[in-house]
Amino acid sequence: MKKTVFLNNKYIKSKNAFISYEDRGFQFADSIYEVIAFIDDKFIDLDFHFKRLKRSLKLIDIKYRFNQNYLQKIFKKLIKINNVKKGLIYLQITRGVQPRNHSYKKDLKPTVIIYTIKKNLNENLKKLLGKKAITYPDLRWKRRDIKSVSLLPNVLAAKAASKKSAYEAILIDNGIVTEGTASNIWIVKKNKLITHPANSHILKGITRQSIVKIIKKEKLVLFEKKIKKSELFSADEVFLTSSSSFVTPIIKIDNKFINKGKVGKITYNLAKIYIAKFQ
Ligand code: PDD
Repeated sequence: MKKTVFLNNKYIKSKNAFISYEDRGFQFADSIYEVIAFIDDKFIDLDFHFKRLKRSLKLIDIKYRFNQNYLQKIFKKLIKINNVKKGLIYLQITRGVQPRNHSYKKDLKPTVIIYTIKKNLNENLKKLLGKKAITYPDLRWKRRDIKSVSLLPNVLAAKAASKKSAYEAILIDNGIVTEGTASNIWIVKKNKLITHPANSHILKGITRQSIVKIIKKEKLVLFEKKIKKSELFSADEVFLTSSSSFVTPIIKIDNKFINKGKVGKITYNLAKIYIAKFQ
């Protein structure tokens, strides 16, 4: 069964969903996006995703005013039509269509595409498996806090990881761990949780935000500070967070085991508390 997608105010079959070759999203990656997890018709941290969407639009000057209830209705309708129980909503907004020119005209009509992705989320504690990662140079631009679709460096790093049968590539910028290709990276050292500060060097993940809240509530110790590549390998535990993977333990990096290849206690507990939020 072909799925239905939402493109520019219309629900259409995916095989008929086309955008113009002059769409700036296609030509220049002049476009931003969000990925939102859902289980049944419950969206995970939806308000935070809308907040970040608004911020990304503002930062790249795309004038798309949206109503949260209206978008939520579209998400729900797509989930229903496509009969998906669990997965992701993908939402992309491009600046619009214009004959190719690096500079953009004002008042373009943004292209809006929304669709569902059926996916098992990492929400089953019994199946919380440790994954392998590689390290890879961070080749990206300097505004990684904007959730833009210019993801070529992420794509190349992710391919390098999959070639080595690894789940994620951990990006290293000048010896510092920034984040994963599609996730935020955390280490645990002597019961302290450490992750990169939420500045322009990384995307401020929504899942990261939820984990920060949990850490504070549980009175655990959090440091938002730079992590050296060497600290990854001497960490007691390493894990990643994202909307599509929730809390995922990393037990091997570049062929070196972390925590003797076992899922760490703190990682497990954080995953447990995070998952309990929406069950
Ligand atoms: N990626 N860092 C990067 C570079 C990301 O692309 C993502 C998310 C994250 C985690 O953010 P969040 O917790 O809000 O999902 C961090 C999504 C899932 C994607 O591109 O598919």
